[in-house]
Amino acid sequence: TPCYLNGEFLRLSEAKVSVLDRGFIFGDGVYEVVPVYGRRLFRFQEHMARLERSLQKVRIPNPYDEMGWLDRIRHLVADHADRHDAEDQLVYVQVTRGVAPRDHVMPVGLTPTVFIMTSTMKPATAEQRHHGVACVTARDFRWERGDIKSISLLGNVLARQISADQGAAETILFRDGFLTEGSASNVWIVHEDAVLGPPKSEHLLEGIRYELLAELCEELGLGFNLRPISEAEVYAADEILLSSATKEVLPVTRLDGEPVGHGAGKGKPGPVYARLYEAYQ
Ligand code: PDD
Repeated sequence: TPCYLNGEFLRLSEAKVSVLDRGFIFGDGVYEVVPVYGRRLFRFQEHMARLERSLQKVRIPNPYDEMGWLDRIRHLVADHADRHDAEDQLVYVQVTRGVAPRDHVMPVGLTPTVFIMTSTMKPATAEQRHHGVACVTARDFRWERGDIKSISLLGNVLARQISADQGAAETILFRDGFLTEGSASNVWIVHEDAVLGPPKSEHLLEGIRYELLAELCEELGLGFNLRPISEAEVYAADEILLSSATKEVLPVTRLDGEPVGHGAGKGKPGPVYARLYEAYQ
């Protein structure tokens, strides 16, 4: 499988970086995950704008302009589609500060390490869409800069494993009693036919699907509101949804072992999910 590393297209098995790369030593870098449908990048400009914001926040220069990124990524996507007959893909883009003797201080004038790979998209299964997924909750013990799409993901890995250990699909996190996000997704609740999500802040990643869901709700005549959401509101929600590049929009039907929702729809994917999913497709 081909990938891109620092100016070259090469096989994944041949791509090597120095052990002194600050990505390896410090987790000093940022990343993006961009979905591809029918060989076409989805919301590419939005992903590139977020990459630019992440890079600026950690003071790594952006190695390419948008066209530079697009040319390289398109090459990989076309190549992967031809080889694997895979039109739908996930592109992974990573930029680290570069290679330098180990010192916490940011060195001046480093050349960033750029890595891009693509893989065949693995959509949620029919079973997951039909029955929804189980999630568990945990305290958000990660750092306070969740707005940066950092490759330092140990906090997210530890959070995700809490649900993995229980055979659940995602860990939903609360900071000081309020919803932040999942270990690798944003979390939404449905309350009185409106989709509610936590406000954008330094405690969570503003998913590209924040804007997308706002647009879809508008199209569908559903309310869409960003405001602090308490733990109690999540447990009492009509529906709970996850969103990410990989999950698109996915219904949560069990939370900490209890069915989500009320009445006849209890424990089943709800009507707002169904409409959003259809609009998303
Ligand atoms: N994760 N919050 C976190 C912590 C995430 O890692 C992600 C995405 C999101 C959703 O963002 P978006 O809608 O832009 O995908 C929210 C990616 C997919 C990953 O790490 O693989």
